Amino acid sequence: MDKLVIDGGRPLSGTVEVSGAKNAVLPAMAAALLSSAPVRLSNVPALRDVETMARILRNLGARVDLGQGTAEVDSGGLSKWEAPYDLVRTMRASVMVLGPLVARMKRARVSLPGGCAIGTRPIDVHLSGLAAMGARVGMSDGYVEVETGGLHGAAIQLKVPSVTGTENLMMAATLAEGATVISNAAREPEVADLAALLNSMGARVSGAGTDTITIEGVSSLGGASHGVVPDRIEAGTYLVLSLLTGNGLEVRGARAEHLAALASRVAEAGGALLPVAGGMRTSLGGGKLKSVDVVTQPYPGFPTDLQAQWMAAMAVARGSAVIREAIFENRFQHASELARMGADITVKGDTAVVRGVEALKGAPVMVSDLRAGASLVLAALIAGGRTEINRIYHLDRGYESLVPKLKAVGAAIERVPS
Ligand code: UD1
Repeated sequence: MDKLVIDGGRPLSGTVEVSGAKNAVLPAMAAALLSSAPVRLSNVPALRDVETMARILRNLGARVDLGQGTAEVDSGGLSKWEAPYDLVRTMRASVMVLGPLVARMKRARVSLPGGCAIGTRPIDVHLSGLAAMGARVGMSDGYVEVETGGLHGAAIQLKVPSVTGTENLMMAATLAEGATVISNAAREPEVADLAALLNSMGARVSGAGTDTITIEGVSSLGGASHGVVPDRIEAGTYLVLSLLTGNGLEVRGARAEHLAALASRVAEAGGALLPVAGGMRTSLGGGKLKSVDVVTQPYPGFPTDLQAQWMAAMAVARGSAVIREAIFENRFQHASELARMGADITVKGDTAVVRGVEALKGAPVMVSDLRAGASLVLAALIAGGRTEINRIYHLDRGYESLVPKLKAVGAAIERVPS
């Protein structure tokens, strides 16, 4: 197992390139199960989760070729409908094979993803939507088993705007008989990116990106080529880093329209996220961010996937900030690690109070989940002295080339065996 060793306090400057979005490429790969013709994806990040999805698809009988920034998935030879525990347990997003399998194979057996570090994360939204479309849903031995004589369109009102739930049902509905309307749908840009891919495969999806998505079922889908949308969470992570390290970073691929919630909090904190040709950069009057409260919300609200990074920023801001995590029930594990570096944070239930301190100090810390890892990297880069970050396999799931990208802008960061 590797660890990161970071010497903090260096001013950073230069260009960071944003990779394709983890949360867009995974459903895009699953969508390829809907067609017997190849789906070619570009702007594919080299991430552990992409490899995991490739293994799941291969196990189902698909051919998956991962290249430099590309993925080709050919599901012509799809022969199985089971996603086993060993593959699913490392990545909850594996559940996204469920909708496409039921639509194409009329059945699916997918291991229940179970709990994860940030909460219980149920999939009832996925299952009740499939049931409304005419599937029989059962459970046995830790697996969810879904079968259908053929899916039909339905009016589906989601209990919560689940992102992968919306994506699963949207994919299933593309091959259903008749029209499906999903209301209270997730509005994340990754949902819209998936709809664009599905439409280029021949699906009839409209309204993705709003809270009402309509899907007119078609009898089959073809192949397509599709470029994956840039990762707004990775972009946001580097923009927060830029604010904390002298505003020297140009984050290429960052899209202002996907980062409005972050931009408005940054503005309240006395800074700005500024669009530049092909990306964004930051500015900050007065040297230090002011403390600003956030509540995480479904898109277009402040993303839970940037909550940990915001906490790292607030740890050294002027004043005190209240951060409420309203999406996941156990997503503050970075708080105690930041405290090891000198942050002053009190957590009570879903709320953290972060009182800004003058500076953080390097310490050995441990990563509990992907975004917690990002927040510890930010903290280490601004701390005095050396930080060792352990259990960085979480970061490999979602940040492509983290170490080379940071080194290229002047960070003192090494990946070493621990
Ligand atoms: C996706 C993202 C993840 C992000 C999250 C919230 C992917 C691959 N992952 O995860 O990075 O943190 O959105 O923006 O896109 N819920 C239910 N029943 C369900 C499904 C969800 O009650 O059937 C609840 C969850 O417990 C949670 C909330 O809905 O409180 C949002 O979860 P959801 O949007 O489903 O998250 P994911 O799609 O798993």
